[in-house]
Amino acid sequence: MKKLICRKATLKDFEGICQLRHQLLDDPEDRLTLEYAPYNEKNDRPWIQKCLRSRQRIVVLIAEDEEGICAHSIVCIEKVSRKMQAYVTYRKKARLVHLYVAVNKRHQGIGTALLKYTLSYLKQKGAEFVDLECYMHNDKAAALYAKVGFKDVFVEKRFMFSK
Ligand SMILES: CC(C)(COP(=O)(O)OP(=O)(O)OC[C@H]1O[C@@H](n2cnc3c(N)ncnc32)[C@H](O)[C@@H]1OP(=O)(O)O)[C@@H](O)C(=O)NCCC(=O)NCCS
Repeated sequence: MKKLICRKATLKDFEGICQLRHQLLDDPEDRLTLEYAPYNEKNDRPWIQKCLRSRQRIVVLIAEDEEGICAHSIVCIEKVSRKMQAYVTYRKKARLVHLYVAVNKRHQGIGTALLKYTLSYLKQKGAEFVDLECYMHNDKAAALYAKVGFKDVFVEKRFMFSK
């Protein structure tokens, strides 16, 4: 693998992240379910900007090589409210909202490197566990998550009424 740096993104990385996410427009690997609207740049850019501005709750982490930003992860860190503390055994959890590697940079270990960096970042922030959603047929992502230690816990069932 070429030299890769993983770090927390800042507002200066906004355009680089948007360029990476532009690939979502035409990436069948990222679109395995039909209930979400297709990627829409007009809605996405303000959301990414909001994530980059978020002080603590949402964090964007990136991997970059000499050509620029080649992957990102987006995580949401949640403290358990006083009321909820009676029902769960953890005080802080994190959700991996998105992990994405540029199409031409896949299968080079970048996803693994950024995922491991993301987990160590979250541990350092005090998260006690991390969850995520992974589509049934996303075998690549499932293999990656299993490799770093994620366990399958339950199957989410969805039913769509025909239009
Ligand atoms: C899933 C994704 C993040 C993997 O990133 P990557 O940089 O290609 O992954 P790596 O090169 O680090 O490979 C990690 C593991 O994924 C699996 N993997 C990678 N390429 C694979 C392939 N072509 N077929 C099957 N498994 C594969 C392997 O388990 C691999 O580990 P190994 O190399 O030790 O065997 C990337 O394909 C991606 O961005 N996909 C589209 C977005 C997506 O699906 N994100 C996850 C949402 S839940």
